[in-house]
Amino acid sequence: MSTLTNDAQQTSGDQNRGSDQNPGSAQNRGSAQNHGAAVGLTADKITIRGGIPLVGRIEVKGAKNLVTKAMVAALLGETPSLLQDVPNISDVRIVRGLLEVHGVKVTEGDEPGDLILDPVGVESAHFAAIDAHAGSSRIPILFCGPLLHRLGEAFIPDLGGCRIGDRPIDFHLDVLRKFGAVVEKQPNGIRMSAPNGLKGTKVELPYPSVGATEQVLLTAVRAEGITELKGAAIEPEIMDLINILQKMGAIITVDTDRVIRIEGVERLEGYRHRALFDRNEAASWAAAALATDGDIFVGGARQSEMLTFLNVFRKVGGAFEIHDDGIRFYHPGGVLKPVIIETDVHPGFMTDWQQPLVIALTKAHGTSIVHETVYEQRFGFVDALVEMGATIQIHRECLGGHPCRFGQRNFNHSAVITGPTKLHGADIVVPDLRGGFSHLIAALSADGASTVSNVGIISRGYENFITKLRLLGADFDLEG
Ligand code: EPU
Repeated sequence: MSTLTNDAQQTSGDQNRGSDQNPGSAQNRGSAQNHGAAVGLTADKITIRGGIPLVGRIEVKGAKNLVTKAMVAALLGETPSLLQDVPNISDVRIVRGLLEVHGVKVTEGDEPGDLILDPVGVESAHFAAIDAHAGSSRIPILFCGPLLHRLGEAFIPDLGGCRIGDRPIDFHLDVLRKFGAVVEKQPNGIRMSAPNGLKGTKVELPYPSVGATEQVLLTAVRAEGITELKGAAIEPEIMDLINILQKMGAIITVDTDRVIRIEGVERLEGYRHRALFDRNEAASWAAAALATDGDIFVGGARQSEMLTFLNVFRKVGGAFEIHDDGIRFYHPGGVLKPVIIETDVHPGFMTDWQQPLVIALTKAHGTSIVHETVYEQRFGFVDALVEMGATIQIHRECLGGHPCRFGQRNFNHSAVITGPTKLHGADIVVPDLRGGFSHLIAALSADGASTVSNVGIISRGYENFITKLRLLGADFDLEG
C-alpha cells in the first residue's frame, strides 16, 4: 500500500503561491521539485510495485491547455472573470503568479476549482519578477497581445516547456509584428511595444499551431479592425477559448478550412465560464486502464472531444462505455491488437495521447507504428521502456503513412513497437510531462518494483495524480 500520498495535501489557498515556489533563475527552471512543490507534492521519486490492475473512479477537471489560456484572457476584460473547474496543477500556479505580478488579483471562489481573476489594477511588472514567475511554462508568450493592449508593452523571458523538440516561438513573433508590435530581442528575453496600437491584419500560419492561433485570437479581439487567420488550429481547447472570448464581447467567426475571422472591439468584459474537461488527462487514465488490465471510470470525460482517441482505443482492443457524467475505460479481456497511428492536429490523433498509449502497444500481439508529426523529438521516453523489456525501434523516416515536415531532416520521429513483451521493473527518470505519465503506466503494468524519479514534472498537468493512483488501488511508496 502507499505510505505517503502527499499531493492530497494540496492547498487551494495562497500558501504555496509566489516566488518562493518558483525558481528565480533559468538554470533552476523546470526541475521536478519545483513543479511538484508548487502544488504540494514534496516527493520526487515513487517506487511502484506493478502488476495490479487499476480499478475505480477518478475525476478530471478543466483542461490544462485551455485553463491557462483562459486565465490570460481575463487580462483583456474591464471587469473580473470567474473560471470554474480549474485544476490544482503547477502550470496554473505559474500563470497565476504571472498574473499577480502584473497586478491581477486572483482569489478562490465558492466552489472548489473556482478562480476569480480581477484585472482592474493591471500594471507593468518588473523584469525580474516576470522572470522569477515564468517557471518552465511557455504561457508567457501569450501574455503579449493582452499586455500590449492594456499597457503598451510586454516582456517575455526565455521560455521553457517540455523537452520535446526545439519548440520555437517564431510564429508568435511574426504574428505580433503583423499586428504592429515592435519586437526587440534582449539578452535575457524579448521586449515588445506597440507605439501605434495594434491593428487587425491578415495572417496565414505555415502550420496550424495551437499557440500561434491563440496568440492571434488574444491579440485580434481588441485590435482595431478585422483580422483574418488562415491555417488556424481548431483544437477543442481553442474552440472553448473562442467561447470565452465571445462571452467577453468579442466577435469571432469560425469558417470552414481553418479560417477564423475576428472583428476587433473597443471593450471586453469579464467572463463566467466552466472550463472544458482535460481530454489529455482522460486519455492518459484510459491508457493506464488498458495497460494494467484495469477498469477506470473517468468522471467529467466526454465523447465528442475524444472521438479519434476512442476509435484507436477500440481498435487496440480496449472497451469503453459513454455515460452522462464520464466515460468508463476498461480491458475487456482477450489479446490487444497492433495499430498504426499518426499524430496530427485536430481532428487527428493528438500527440499528447501517443506516449501513454505506447505502453499498451508493448502488450499488443504484432507490430505497431507510431509516426509523430507534431513534435520532432517526442520519443525520449522510449529508452526507459526498452530498459524495462519493450521492443521499440525509433526511425528517422516517416513510417506508416504520409511524409511529414520532419521526414527529410534528422529527427527520430517514428517508432516501431513489437509485442507482446512483458515489462519488468527498472529505475527510470521522467523526461517530460506526457512521457512521465507513460513511465508511471509502464511501472504500474510491469512485473516487480520500479523506481520512477523526477515525478514532480507530472504535476504540471495531472492534478492529484498520487491521490488518484491510491484511489485506483496502485501499490507504491513515495520518497522525498
Ligand atoms: N511551432 C513552431 N513555431 C512556433 C510555434 C510552434 O515551429 O512559433 C511548432 C512546434 O515546434 C511544434 C508545432 O509547431 O512542432 C506545434 O506546436 P503548437 O504551437 O501547436 O503547440 P503549443 O501551443 O506549443 C500546445 C500544448 C501542447 C500540445 C500542442 C499540440 C499548451 C500549453 N501546450 O502546445 O501540450 O502538445 O499544443 O496540440 O497548450 C502537453 O500538454 O503536454 C503539451 C505539450
